[in-house]
Amino acid sequence: MVLDNLSKGHREAVPVERLVVGDFGDGELLDRVMQEHKIEAVMHFGALSLVGESMTRPDMYFQNNVAKGLALLDGMVRNQVKYLVFSSTAAVYGEPEAVPITEDARLRPTNPYGESKLAFEKILKWYDQAFGLKSISLRYFNAAGADPAGDIGEDHNPESHLIPLVIQAALGLRENIQVFGTDYPTPDGTCIRDYIHINDLAEAHVLALNSLAQGEGSTAYNLGNGSGYSVLEVIRTVEKVSGRKVKVVLGERRAGDPAVLVAGSERIRRELGWQPKFPELEEIVGTAWEWHSRYPGGFR
Ligand SMILES: NC(=O)c1ccc[n+]([C@@H]2O[C@H](COP(=O)([O-])OP(=O)(O)OC[C@H]3O[C@@H](n4cnc5c(N)ncnc54)[C@H](O)[C@@H]3O)[C@@H](O)[C@H]2O)c1
Repeated sequence: MVLDNLSKGHREAVPVERLVVGDFGDGELLDRVMQEHKIEAVMHFGALSLVGESMTRPDMYFQNNVAKGLALLDGMVRNQVKYLVFSSTAAVYGEPEAVPITEDARLRPTNPYGESKLAFEKILKWYDQAFGLKSISLRYFNAAGADPAGDIGEDHNPESHLIPLVIQAALGLRENIQVFGTDYPTPDGTCIRDYIHINDLAEAHVLALNSLAQGEGSTAYNLGNGSGYSVLEVIRTVEKVSGRKVKVVLGERRAGDPAVLVAGSERIRRELGWQPKFPELEEIVGTAWEWHSRYPGGFR
């Protein structure tokens, strides 16, 4: 079952018989859903996740991502649901001291969004110790792409992710793409990020849940491809895949953007046998382009 309050999500993204519209902070609703559907495990994707917004509205982020998250955990404890896979983020590391970033790097978020995710990771440790609730936190780098076999793609409002933004520019849905900063210490001066295809990300969730069900302990893993691409490389890749030119506007740096964020994801490969099927940027962008050109208005 999918529980979503549709504050950001799309009804059309889920089979109608699987969707319960409601809030994961609603204890009574959680009891009803967990009992009615005999829930044995939870994958907790729900969150507010706009870094900029979190800087001006930390209250909303701690309320939703931590306080309501606690209500979810308490619902699980009340209903003896023992396993949780949690969507954490590279933002728990903050400005990295070294790349690739491994799981033992210092955890120093630089915004309330990352801080709220780290707080929840810490809470999970104590819920395991006190209540035996087993969890795996997956620290995603940049989730991207669309399901090549289906109708599910990326549609945020406002859109803040680079690949859909560049694709919208290629489709003529926005005038240009703005590049924030061209003087970073990277080969072309623009920021470098690690993109992971959503099908590979989904696969990691299944492996994580199986590992918990087999009795492995609670832990956290990075989830990224381990290779970085610059903003300009992403733009060039969209142009290549789409066969269209994109108007690029070069601008100043944005506060708080680290130059390079690339995952060291050896641990999840070694311990869970995770193996990305879409490691190349061109494949990831290709699936996204397919979906956006088929559904230029997204789910609407
Ligand atoms: N997309 C990425 O690149 C990325 C990177 C790192 C981490 N993450 C994390 O992965 C998860 C999914 O990200 P996404 O990009 O799909 O974001 P999203 O906003 O599309 O999905 C989050 C969903 O949670 C729902 N939601 C929020 N608060 C809720 C509440 N109180 N009760 C019920 N539903 C609620 C929203 O309606 C939305 O459907 C988030 O936890 C995010 O922090 C995403």
